[in-house]
Amino acid sequence: MSKYFLLAFLFVGCCALNDRPIVGILFQEVDDEVKEYGESYLMSAYVTWVEESGGRVVPIKVGEDEAYYKDLFDKINGVLLPGGAVRIDNSAYEVAAEYLYKYAIKANDNGDYFPIWGTCLGMEELTFLTAKKDIMTQCSSENITVPLNFVRDFKESKLYKNAPEDAIRILKNEHVTSNFHTNCITPKVHENNYKLSNFYKILSTNIDRHGIEFVSSMEAYDYPIYGLQFHPEKNNFMFSTNKNIPHTYHAIRISQYFSNFFINETRKNNHKFPTIKEEAAALINNLRTIMLPPPAMHEDYFLPINKKSATETKSSFNDQFSLGTKKESLVSIAGAKSVAIWMGIAISCIVVIVLVLKIKTSHGKNTSEYVKLKSDETFLFGSNEQRSSLA
Ligand SMILES: *[C@@H]1O[C@H](CO)[C@@H](O)[C@H](O)[C@H]1NC(C)=O
Ligand SMILES: *[C@@H]1O[C@H](CO)[C@@H](O)[C@H](O)[C@H]1NC(C)=O
Repeated sequence: MSKYFLLAFLFVGCCALNDRPIVGILFQEVDDEVKEYGESYLMSAYVTWVEESGGRVVPIKVGEDEAYYKDLFDKINGVLLPGGAVRIDNSAYEVAAEYLYKYAIKANDNGDYFPIWGTCLGMEELTFLTAKKDIMTQCSSENITVPLNFVRDFKESKLYKNAPEDAIRILKNEHVTSNFHTNCITPKVHENNYKLSNFYKILSTNIDRHGIEFVSSMEAYDYPIYGLQFHPEKNNFMFSTNKNIPHTYHAIRISQYFSNFFINETRKNNHKFPTIKEEAAALINNLRTIMLPPPAMHEDYFLPINKKSATETKSSFNDQFSLGTKKESLVSIAGAKSVAIWMGIAISCIVVIVLVLKIKTSHGKNTSEYVKLKSDETFLFGSNEQRSSLA
């Protein structure tokens, strides 16, 4: 009898969400503020922002060859393109983002749900990758906090559809979004760019110091791809004394709304590392941060850039992957997708049941990988090479 309960439980269990999602966050070339510490960096605020919602993080290095990005993509459950100051059309950050974006489009087209989140520069990079050109307008939005001006039907979007009333009320009325950008996408440019306007829906806009209207949040119509021009991770994790960053309870509430949303999306993906040992070794927890002195007061991760592959890796953007902006093709893609998803679920359930029955009959001699891992203490602290590069 209990056997059947177990089977029923597993049948549900095998199709459930992935509750151990891992997000890849892209590093970028250092800017003036942090150049003395290393060659590429990542602000730890992005990492903790993912972690606060139950995600774990692996660093994605810049300047690697395509094989590195492809390999990593198949092991992670989502990508975060962070803010920063590199070029969106010509940087190691752009080359890496382009690979990841291309794989994500392909994965989603094949029914493999894979989310991408772009914050500030990350959102700008997403528009570059879709429009295939730099469509930025200069704007003056450094150090300002603004309530969002939602578009009329924003409640129909994936990003805001299930948002609690209080979150929407705060976003609509309070100065909780931190803006630190000198470039922006205007609704006019968005509308006039066929590729962009067919791919992304504008969800909210804001006005810069000189009256220029810019897109402040957007999402792809047919892909789990999202962009925010402001910085939700700064509210709870960045306390620079020279910056206008709200840390009120309401500001934190909003930040957590967005991280919960994004990590929910990553739970719908089932990529994984082949072994727990490889997973643990890849996590950013093996690296150490450096705390910048006041007024910056932020923590960052630093990694060297593999120079050789950086020069070999040339951005090769071509039209071979069509982004399917035509409605008709999207309908058929969506249909094929759901059939594929259901077949996948059915097959994986059968596999799990067979495996469980096998394990049950051969109990006893089960040395789990995790137990082995725990005794192998050295790797937990990263290799010597990693540590010295961070010193
Ligand atoms: C940003 O705004 C804050 C608060 O309004 C202000 O104290 C700070 O000096 C500003 N920083 C810069 C760099 O303008
Ligand atoms: C995340 O998912 C849970 C359960 O699946 C849901 O209750 C919650 O509202 C979602 N949160 C957000 C912010 O989307």
